[in-house]
Amino acid sequence: MKFIDQPPRFLFFTGKGGVGKTSIACATAIQLADAGRRVLLVSTDPASNVGQVFSVIIGNQMTEIPAVANLTALEIDPQAAAQAYRDRIVNPVRGVLPDTIVKSIEEQLSGACTTEIAAFDEFTALLTDSALTADYDHIIFDTAPTGHTIRLLQLPSAWSGFLNEGKGDASCLGPLAGLEKQRSQYQAAVNALK
Ligand SMILES: Nc1ncnc2c1ncn2[C@@H]1O[C@H](COP(=O)(O)OP(=O)(O)OP(=O)(O)O)[C@@H](O)[C@H]1O
Ligand SMILES: [Mg+2]
Repeated sequence: MKFIDQPPRFLFFTGKGGVGKTSIACATAIQLADAGRRVLLVSTDPASNVGQVFSVIIGNQMTEIPAVANLTALEIDPQAAAQAYRDRIVNPVRGVLPDTIVKSIEEQLSGACTTEIAAFDEFTALLTDSALTADYDHIIFDTAPTGHTIRLLQLPSAWSGFLNEGKGDASCLGPLAGLEKQRSQYQAAVNALK
């Protein structure tokens, strides 16, 4: 199979529920790792079962898979990503700004929009931040069923448009809203996906 003989740096396994995405993503990851490639297997499915496949608790951090040399896995968890995103923004100002202001920032960052942007931020970082994935030859994505994944893949262009137009309520992004860094990261994500 071409995708195994000449594997690109990024491999996506997508499709409807239950068609075999996780099975084939894991099998591909093992095959490439056994061939000596350094592989990062990433699940973007909020209901990931990649940990179950390898009998390892993975969660929202890169975790080496003991049974397979050269294989590391990560399950992007929207809730954990949102918590980390809030902490990154709020922790530096805790005890510096008045408590009421800190509390209102936390409230602004507690909705579904923040959860979506936080998970998406981790996903785009994997596509665009070469330092983050420098240790890996291949990054394999095991995705959630089609609807969720189409939304995820559309987010880079959706958010780029949103940021470019500078309209709408971006308060759920926190102080990062409109920063040039985010803008160029989303553009780079679109380019990587192309
Ligand atoms: N090539 C195959 N032939 C037969 N059965 C398979 C094949 N690939 C996967 N299965 C079985 O189909 C079921 C679903 O597989 P899997 O979990 O890999 O699908 P998925 O697309 O990741 O599902 P989900 O959309 O829920 O994430 C499992 O029971 C698996 O063992
Ligand atoms: Mg699956």
